[in-house]
Amino acid sequence: MSSITVKDVFNSMEYGPAPEARNLADEWLMAHGSSFGHYIGGAFTDPNAGEVFDSINPATGQVLATIAQGSAADIDRAVKAARAAQDDWAATPGHVRARYLYALARQIQKHSRLFAVLDTLDNGKTIRETRDLDVPLAARHFYHHAGWAQLLDEEFRGYRPVGVCGQIIPWNFPLLMLAWKVAPALAAGCTVVLKPAEFTPLTALLFAEITRHVGLPDGVFNLVTGDGDTGAALVAHEQVDKIAFTGSTEVGRIIRRETAGSGKKLSLELGGKSPFIVFEDADIDAAIEGVVDGIWLNQGEVCCAGSRLLVQEGLAEKFYARLKRRMQTLRVGDPLDKGVDIGALVAPVQLERIERLVEQGKREGATCWQPDLTLPEQGLYFPPTLFTDVEPSATISQVEIFGPVLVATTFRTPAEAVELANHTRYGLAASIWSSNLDLALDVASKVKAGVVWVNSTNMFDAAAGFGGYRESGYGREGGREGMYEYLQPDWTFAPRKETAAAAQPAPAASRADDLADDVAAVVDRLDLDADSDDDQLDDGFASFAADAGFGFEDELQPAAAEPEEVALPVTEPASVASSAEAEPPAIDATPKLYIGGKQVRPDSGYSYAVTSEQGAFLGEVGLGNRKDIRNAVEAARKASSWSSATAHNRAQVLYYLAENLSQRADELARFIDTMDDGGASLGEREVEASIRRIYTYAAWADKYDGQVHATPLRNVTLAMNEPWGVLGVVAPTDHALLGLLSLILPALAMGNRVVAIPSSPRAAIMAPLYQLLDTSDVPAGTVNLVSGNRDELARVLAQHDDVDSLWYCGSRSGAKLVEEESTGNLKPVWVIRSSGRDWFDPAAGEGREFLRRATQVKNIWVPYGE
Ligand code: NAI
Ligand code: MG
Repeated sequence: MSSITVKDVFNSMEYGPAPEARNLADEWLMAHGSSFGHYIGGAFTDPNAGEVFDSINPATGQVLATIAQGSAADIDRAVKAARAAQDDWAATPGHVRARYLYALARQIQKHSRLFAVLDTLDNGKTIRETRDLDVPLAARHFYHHAGWAQLLDEEFRGYRPVGVCGQIIPWNFPLLMLAWKVAPALAAGCTVVLKPAEFTPLTALLFAEITRHVGLPDGVFNLVTGDGDTGAALVAHEQVDKIAFTGSTEVGRIIRRETAGSGKKLSLELGGKSPFIVFEDADIDAAIEGVVDGIWLNQGEVCCAGSRLLVQEGLAEKFYARLKRRMQTLRVGDPLDKGVDIGALVAPVQLERIERLVEQGKREGATCWQPDLTLPEQGLYFPPTLFTDVEPSATISQVEIFGPVLVATTFRTPAEAVELANHTRYGLAASIWSSNLDLALDVASKVKAGVVWVNSTNMFDAAAGFGGYRESGYGREGGREGMYEYLQPDWTFAPRKETAAAAQPAPAASRADDLADDVAAVVDRLDLDADSDDDQLDDGFASFAADAGFGFEDELQPAAAEPEEVALPVTEPASVASSAEAEPPAIDATPKLYIGGKQVRPDSGYSYAVTSEQGAFLGEVGLGNRKDIRNAVEAARKASSWSSATAHNRAQVLYYLAENLSQRADELARFIDTMDDGGASLGEREVEASIRRIYTYAAWADKYDGQVHATPLRNVTLAMNEPWGVLGVVAPTDHALLGLLSLILPALAMGNRVVAIPSSPRAAIMAPLYQLLDTSDVPAGTVNLVSGNRDELARVLAQHDDVDSLWYCGSRSGAKLVEEESTGNLKPVWVIRSSGRDWFDPAAGEGREFLRRATQVKNIWVPYGE
């Protein structure tokens, strides 16, 4: 035992011998005859009823148990059990649900050693980690979420549980990933079908037993074991309302494609290639220990592993030398030995993957270094490995290795560090080391990652959200932000009603009317309404609004589903003149596209005819194409000043927009009525509601702020609401102005730049809108408007790598299309239900639901203390 370190001694003193714990696990396995069925509707199924597979201890190759391979029929039964339990569970008072969650937390603690040993046996991860990290954190998640169950009615007013959740988890943190998924679902009032990874089903089976022990109602938690096919059956099941997945980006893509257009809510926690950035002024000793934890925790089989070391040039040589010395002291071996730092890899396939990538790294010219140590003769082990001189674009710099392999590069300046850090398709986590907190926080704000650890790494807690940017997935787990993944706004459950335009004034509508009157009265008193004087308006605008009618395709139907996109009656430039001759509008009734703050002709040169709702020809609107969208995205990319402007400044611009809109309220109201053939006479109301909506989001701009999460470690965890960047918006068909603004405004308020596709039949609204934007100091490129065939343009937005997120309001087939097309870059798509949504009603048409979707939460952990 000559190689034992002080740390090892310290550990050995604190904890008792391991073998004793193993006995407990063996007894549990024996008690079950080492064979397990599924847990469905409150009972275990016959373990030998169908196909089975083995769960193996990768440290020894020993078969631990025989596990049932879930079939589609098993999944069906489990989903039906969950469905049957759903209503009662949702109706169970929050306090009662809290008591169940609390009981589960207590049970996990009570059986903590059994859980720890089972995870270690099944996965190969060290007992030190399962006992000190996995199990306590799993219990913590249940405690924390017991609290959310208790507070749900108060803190999530206006929301309901999503319903039946299919949850698919990986093998790297078997119990912990279960806790991250199951605790929030149960707290929210959802029921669950869980599919653990095929390599590590044991602790999930123990957990199922515990749910029965605490008397959790039958069907609330169901467990179906099996491989990817079992997972796929769960994803495909029609009665599942939400899929929550953690695992490889590859399978994340498959699930995105499979669920496209299904209406299933989806959260994906995928891979990463997270940067570990060390500045010259960092505390070196701390940073070295940080690296050890960052990449060698759990053998490097960690989605947020700090697998790319970026060291500032002046420090690099010294840092590598110190790191190598430290690596020499790492102990690789029996995971049940408490002095071991690196255990066994989960399965042969994972070891082969690592070996293959390491060979490729060598072939591509990087320098490979491994400490001089002997690995155990049997079992799946790989030594800690350091690559230096690695090109940022090398395979090993880009691909998630998911093993104990660190890849190092140097940088000179903070700007270069940020550039290298973001030189990846992923965006899960980042670790930043500097004694200059200003610098560290500045870099934290610029790194594209859902979690940033300043002078620390791999810190997790139930009170803080965890989840990625970019191809690391979407959705958060933990904290308030994680709860929303299992909730749905109330109004979406209301019986679908006709759209406001078609329906008699609904209560909400008359409320809006009353408010409009109130606002009008206030405006009168304040003498703010400059009594829109036609003379002050842009030349053509008043008559444009009065004379030009703008048409409707069959697209507008107040039916249950948004209409399918129809072929637009395209006209060539030449025929524009002739059709314009037929019924000449007083002014140019051909709004151009609005890109980069300029009115531009569509690339195609084509236009399409718009008619009033009754079919009268009104004019021609530009037919945008792929190139126009690309130009618009480029303009939006460049308009980054909007995102860095202060929230106060953005609010000022929005208030100014409202002021300008109210100056033109009358014309715009008449204009809208003309599009509607004056029949509905909703123009005035729509304009008034639009002004109010602008005020709402001007108000929110500096108020939808983040949180400081109360995580139990000595640190502040800053949950920042960051804008996506460039947001694509596909507006609803009806309420040309209000519908479009309802989507653009929250995006703008939160600092996004927008490329919007207005309602195809009412695209004429663009002309007055871009005039308003021009006169309201909205910087060029912040809002871009491209008219044309809705779904054709939406497809381009969905595919575009520089569009960070997409909001789609349209038909069911269009929703399927954009969700499918988003698969390549895993762009988050929000399919916005418009039918049944009363855009006039603030409860459905504005507020937190939109603000939350306009942002992504970045959790920045900043430790304090000496
Ligand atoms: P995986 O993504 O295939 O497995 C994760 C889970 O998804 C398992 O429960 C699996 O049974 C299930 N699954 C597989 N195919 C499915 C499908 N078509 N539909 C529904 N569920 C499906 O990951 P795997 O194969 O275990 O590991 C491959 C690589 O993925 C690893 O080398 C690693 O790079 C990465 N990975 C990343 C994880 C993370 O947390 N970011 C976790 C596990 C793996
Ligand atoms: Mg196993």
